[in-house]
Amino acid sequence: MTRRLHLNAFLMNTGHHEASWRLPESDPYAHVELGHYVRLARTAERGTFDSLFLADGPQLWGDIAQRPAGALEPLTLLTALATATEHIGLIATASTSYNSPYNLARKFASLDIVSGGRAGWNIVTTAGAEAARNFGLDAEPAHAERYARAAEFLDVALKLWDSWEDDAIVADKAAGVWGDDAKIHPPRHKGRYFSVEGALNVPRSPQGYPLLVQAGSSQDGKAFAARYAEAVFTAQQTVEDARAFYAGLKSLTAAAGRDPEHIKVLPGIVPVLGSTQAEAEANERLLEDHIVHEHGVRRLEQLLQLEPGTLELDAELPAGLPSEDAVEGAKSRYTLVVALARRERLTVRQLIGRLGGGRGHLTVAGTPEQVADTIETWFTQGAADGFNIMPAVLPSGLEAFVDHVVPILRARGLLRTEYDGRHTLRERYGLPRPANQHVHTPALV
Ligand SMILES: Cc1cc2nc3c(=O)[nH]c(=O)nc-3n(C[C@H](O)[C@H](O)[C@H](O)COP(=O)(O)O)c2cc1C
Repeated sequence: MTRRLHLNAFLMNTGHHEASWRLPESDPYAHVELGHYVRLARTAERGTFDSLFLADGPQLWGDIAQRPAGALEPLTLLTALATATEHIGLIATASTSYNSPYNLARKFASLDIVSGGRAGWNIVTTAGAEAARNFGLDAEPAHAERYARAAEFLDVALKLWDSWEDDAIVADKAAGVWGDDAKIHPPRHKGRYFSVEGALNVPRSPQGYPLLVQAGSSQDGKAFAARYAEAVFTAQQTVEDARAFYAGLKSLTAAAGRDPEHIKVLPGIVPVLGSTQAEAEANERLLEDHIVHEHGVRRLEQLLQLEPGTLELDAELPAGLPSEDAVEGAKSRYTLVVALARRERLTVRQLIGRLGGGRGHLTVAGTPEQVADTIETWFTQGAADGFNIMPAVLPSGLEAFVDHVVPILRARGLLRTEYDGRHTLRERYGLPRPANQHVHTPALV
């Protein structure tokens, strides 16, 4: 079978570029308008994407002075998008640090049922003290602690989703029997972080449970992904780093006893398109010219855990920054940003410009052919199973990608030309439906 590229539309606000909202074409209120997301979802569906995705955190993200802030709750928004679309997968971010497994398992099972098997969960552990302070804590739990809780969270959620066998509902009107008690399996879980009796109050959903996606690239993050994730979002700046990450994750997955084909690696790419290279670069410059650097400095100081006022705009990053081991927040992004600045000897101002589009994801400013070339190279050289498409400006960037890059990818045989009937999200990604842990398929004789 031909190996096909997987495309996920990472929808954010008026675009991934922090200054996108300032362009004349942008609606600064769009991030909380349903119509904006319906338009984006239908555009991604026109481009036969596998899925779309919403990032999230249980805190007011960013600086309200700098760009549109606040966001609709992803599961609520995706429920609305489920009724406005037919084929595309719907992936919501939710935190294992600031949710309880019972409520969250129920919400994802519900989205999977409402969408006809199109739900996905981007499992995050949530970096930062701001979120912690919204949940009765003074500081964020340590990195390793967050991942330990995430693992138990997943074990409980899986038990809850498996607490109904597929055929637990009998609906035998004549006999007066609606459900088969023997096919309900309460988790009766008692662990370090959670105590859950069960069973879930929603029947088993079309996919069994949502597609499990993970997005942290630290050692703990990768170990977690190898154990649970079916798709992985990652930020990679160079094809060499991406290949190393890809190979590393596939072998960790095999070492965890899973088929490495059953974990799809999706690096992010921020396409900035133009009909010529010069036009694309001019579009990128226009965005950069709208960056307010003072905001960028503050954000960079937060990411690098520096005191306010440490960084100077026209100097390089200071020497002697701590190693990733000493960071309790977003470890892999920290390393990526420091490596990028050091490798290219960027000043803080230049670094802010480079991060403005995708916060560390690869930005490619070029013609549709050049963007398609990058995607094809990474895909065929062991660096990616697909991409998180992160347009700098929305909706226009997604429309340009679908109108100009998608036809090239299709002509090269990399991307489907249409959806071949109704499928679950897991089927789109070429993944098997998970078995219920309580159902033992008899061996073939
Ligand atoms: C494409 C992508 C999307 C992400 N979306 C979210 C998100 O919505 N919410 C969140 O808290 N973290 C998000 N993250 C961050 C990761 O979950 C993780 O916190 C970060 O990469 C650091 O993880 P690490 O410490 O394991 O490296 C995302 C990361 C990537 C690569």
